[in-house]
Amino acid sequence: MHWLLHALVGTALVGTGLSQDDPPPPPSAPFPTSCSGIGAARYPYTLDSGWEITKIAEGLRQPRTIVFDPLGNMLVLQATSGISVHTFGADGCINSSTTLVQSAGLNHGLSLTPDGKTLYASSQTTAWAWAYDAGARAVSGQKTVVTGIGQGIHSTRTIVVSPANPDLVVVAVGSNANWDTAASSPATGRACVKVFDMSAAPAGGYSYNTQGQMLGYGLRNEVALAFDKNGHVWGTENSGDDFRRTVNGQATDIHIDNPAEELNYLGDPANPFADNWYGYPTCFTVWEPSVIQDNTALKTGSQFVVSPNATFDDAACEGQARPARLSFPAHTAPISNAFDAAGENLYVTFHGSWDRQPAQGYMVAEVPFTKNAEGIYEPVAPADSKTGYKTIISAQSPGSCNSPSLTMSTCWRPAGLSWDPAGERLFVSSDNQASGEIFVLRKKA
Ligand SMILES: *[C@@H]1O[C@H](CO)[C@@H](O)[C@H](O)[C@H]1NC(C)=O
Ligand SMILES: *[C@@H]1O[C@H](CO)[C@@H](O)[C@H](O)[C@H]1NC(C)=O
Repeated sequence: MHWLLHALVGTALVGTGLSQDDPPPPPSAPFPTSCSGIGAARYPYTLDSGWEITKIAEGLRQPRTIVFDPLGNMLVLQATSGISVHTFGADGCINSSTTLVQSAGLNHGLSLTPDGKTLYASSQTTAWAWAYDAGARAVSGQKTVVTGIGQGIHSTRTIVVSPANPDLVVVAVGSNANWDTAASSPATGRACVKVFDMSAAPAGGYSYNTQGQMLGYGLRNEVALAFDKNGHVWGTENSGDDFRRTVNGQATDIHIDNPAEELNYLGDPANPFADNWYGYPTCFTVWEPSVIQDNTALKTGSQFVVSPNATFDDAACEGQARPARLSFPAHTAPISNAFDAAGENLYVTFHGSWDRQPAQGYMVAEVPFTKNAEGIYEPVAPADSKTGYKTIISAQSPGSCNSPSLTMSTCWRPAGLSWDPAGERLFVSSDNQASGEIFVLRKKA
């Protein structure tokens, strides 16, 4: 910015509490009751009575991630297609949609710096940055920022910019198999979440496996990452499939209700925990203790191993692996999360199960948070709770949802989730390939 303009803007903002580098928040758009040309929701749902919902988009290609720029435009990562940008009319409905980046490789990760000037997105192997101009809704100067990410059954590489320190970019990589035994070593660059300082990025980008700082490892597939109001990271983990508990050679199928999906506290990306192993592929979290009959000490939230032995039993996890802070039902597949503006609730999309009959998930939940005596945010519910979240919206009959593949389903598949910059409207996408939809939700006054 020119020094004179800088000085004038600075003067104009004196007394507003805004720094001259923060763009003014966009005016909050109204909540539409319907959008012209947009059909009804493709799949039936049940909505909590305290909320209202309107569908605002359809026919998108697997909308996985939603972010807003500082002018209130909505950017959507459409897997296997690229990134689109959408403007809103005075009625709160979308009134223009254009392609920002065309790329078949982009498959999930999308994030914008708080000033709206740098956009990040990822494919399975690579993360890129662009200069973004919100006024022109255009990108320029594509740069590779992270390379060499491995491949496997978990292909999404969630990428999020730290709002407290926008040079710090956090990238999650899942395990390459249900049981990725080698991922017990952080050097594999799998089942982990790393932090990269973009102010010091080498030309050609960081090598994921050998560079950056480890925020956490032993995280099987930490697809959803959100920052609380302290700038600390909360991850939701997609835990293992088809588990059997084997004791003295006797195997019991425990997979219907175990292990729990996890909500993990990953801490401050500027100052990672020294002990940041979260258990995978050894320690998991109990959802339903009654089916692990050989250890009556287990509760929801307890850690367990699938095959306890003389040198490593369930109790050995305590003090070694960082436990989940809260649990969710098995196989519900939490894949996006975001705090509300007050930091009082974390919202999570659950993509829905395949490894369980009846199916479950296919919902958006609200997890109440509070600030504890040390000034740290944490869920209101204790770690052994089964009721630490509330369902806001769900498939009408989740038990009968059938999802033969990651994107084919007889139900909606909640994927992306984002609050608008005013913190008033919650946007949720479904990446069901039959029709990529976006809904806007609002808490009733
Ligand atoms: C969309 O609506 C906004 C707000 O009314 C308006 O400023 C803008 O020109 C409209 N854009 C298009 C493409 O209609
Ligand atoms: C005991 O269990 C631990 C943790 O699962 C495992 O790493 C170890 O190899 C096991 N030991 C034996 C002798 O099976």
